[in-house]
Amino acid sequence: MFRGGLKLRERLVLCVSVITVLFTLLLVMDIQMDLGMTKKHLVPSHGRVIAPVQKEGLESAYNSFRNRLLQKTHSGLSTNVSKESLPSETAPLDPKNTNQINVVHEATKEMDNFEDLVDYLDLESHERKKFRVDLFRVHPVVVDDANEKKRRPNPSISEIKKINVESNATTLEKFHMQISKHELYPEGSALVDELLRLMQTEPILHVAQKTGGTQLKLIIDYPNELQALFKPMRFPREQQTLPNHFYFTDYERHNAEIAAFHLDRLLGFRRAMPVTGRLLNMTTELYQRAEGDLLSTFFVSPSDNLCFHGKCSYYCDTSHAICGNPDKLEGSFAAFLPSGKLAPTKVWRHPWRRSYHKRRKAQWETDPNYCQLVRDIPPYDEHRRLYDLMDMSVFDFLIGNMDRHHYETFKLFGNDTFTLHLDHGRGFGKPFHDEISILAPLLQCCLIRRSTLETLIRFHNGPGLKLSEAMRESMSRDPVAPILWEPHLVALDRRVEIVLKGIRDCLQKSEPSEDSNKIEDV
Ligand SMILES: *[C@@H]1O[C@H](CO)[C@@H](O)[C@H](O)[C@H]1NC(C)=O
Ligand SMILES: *[C@@H]1O[C@H](CO)[C@@H](O)[C@H](O)[C@H]1NC(C)=O
Ligand SMILES: *[C@@H]1O[C@H](CO)[C@@H](O)[C@H](O)[C@H]1NC(C)=O
Ligand SMILES: *[C@@H]1O[C@H](CO)[C@@H](O)[C@H](O)[C@H]1NC(C)=O
Repeated sequence: MFRGGLKLRERLVLCVSVITVLFTLLLVMDIQMDLGMTKKHLVPSHGRVIAPVQKEGLESAYNSFRNRLLQKTHSGLSTNVSKESLPSETAPLDPKNTNQINVVHEATKEMDNFEDLVDYLDLESHERKKFRVDLFRVHPVVVDDANEKKRRPNPSISEIKKINVESNATTLEKFHMQISKHELYPEGSALVDELLRLMQTEPILHVAQKTGGTQLKLIIDYPNELQALFKPMRFPREQQTLPNHFYFTDYERHNAEIAAFHLDRLLGFRRAMPVTGRLLNMTTELYQRAEGDLLSTFFVSPSDNLCFHGKCSYYCDTSHAICGNPDKLEGSFAAFLPSGKLAPTKVWRHPWRRSYHKRRKAQWETDPNYCQLVRDIPPYDEHRRLYDLMDMSVFDFLIGNMDRHHYETFKLFGNDTFTLHLDHGRGFGKPFHDEISILAPLLQCCLIRRSTLETLIRFHNGPGLKLSEAMRESMSRDPVAPILWEPHLVALDRRVEIVLKGIRDCLQKSEPSEDSNKIEDV
């Protein structure tokens, strides 16, 4: 036991340091818990329901999928690919080594076309004609939403509030008024293009700091009551999430917001507000337009650049200042949601939220039947809500967003409405790591919209562009393009394939059963 006085002292010092670090972690964690709790309109936790945990099936669905994926890729084409596509705790691969990226391209050439899923979709639509009502009981995995959508009424905010939209209304007003029960904007919306153009080119009238957030955000005022939320660039594109950052203390990335908007639109969800990039002149467009508290945080750095840090709970101090280069600053501009007066939102606790506690696990992590519980609880027991959560799980998995603890809907549309996709600043942080746990809702419920599955298969098999190519093209029109570092685009294609494998897994597990599904409608 005793190894001499010096060793003992070293050990003591080590102990004290470890305790200090742990204590700091605990503090950070508690701050985060508080934030989660004090957000407005919290709905009662659905996670409280206690279910008997089945002893024999403790291994949850996503774990078993993850293990299977691990085995397959280990015996598969290339061990290098498997290392990249597997969730692992090891340090990210060397980003400068472009060979690794080429290997992924090479491997995906030998393509799995998911013929079984394609056949299944065909079969399912064929059977649907015969046994319309029994759709769920025969094939519980996919649900057809496309035709439902056409039949169901889709009133807009202006229709519900009986507001006449004047022809002289501003672009943002018009956009807000046309937001409808099932989407933020229709496919090919000219208003979205117009909004993006205005946010890119209109003069900036006023800049103020958004209060209440954890990280720095600015409210930008343009002429004609156009408003945008500004997130500044903090890193070059190829900077990855720092290994020692928890996902919730990770910096927000402005380009992740831009990319997430494009991805949401390409996948046909249309549940994210338009976001664009723009290069600002620090002096004329920020410093001269700021006032009060924000203005007082501007300073000139030793290398003569204009900098500011604002006031917020994380990273708002001189050592985390945002500096021009020398006088230019890049950032993302997201169009504002309608005011709380016009269209208040309801904040829902995400049933698959992470525990935000180092030692405590969330119920979904240990209970293999967790989805069955959620399905029985309103509003997940009817309409489209559960399918929207499945879409969100796919979306978040593609961008690597682990931070979806709450989500919002517009109150005036009731419960049968789409879920907003907000706040993606923590996406696109780890291009060489695929976080399978984000797919847990999909893998535990084994449920996906037909339209979403078809879209994923189309991006994977063609005809047309791969998801990475479509993203590259869509984002190339942005003023600060290229928006994403190339490995993130490679990751998108790889993750589409992983989602499809997960759905295949569900299909192979599913057997026609009488009681497996109570949801009859989307
Ligand atoms: C995997 O990468 C290593 C070096 O990183 C290389 O030597 C090896 O040939 C690669 N394996 C395959 C199958 O590409
Ligand atoms: C639009 O025009 C109407 C009259 O036609 C006027 O009352 C209203 O103030 C105008 N709105 C704006 C935003 O200019
Ligand atoms: C920003 O604006 C100032 C004042 O008009 C000008 O002197 C400066 O060159 C501009 N900086 C850049 C990078 O355009
Ligand atoms: C929406 O769902 C919630 C359940 O969380 C329920 O309390 C509320 O009554 C529902 N609203 C409508 C209009 O059905």
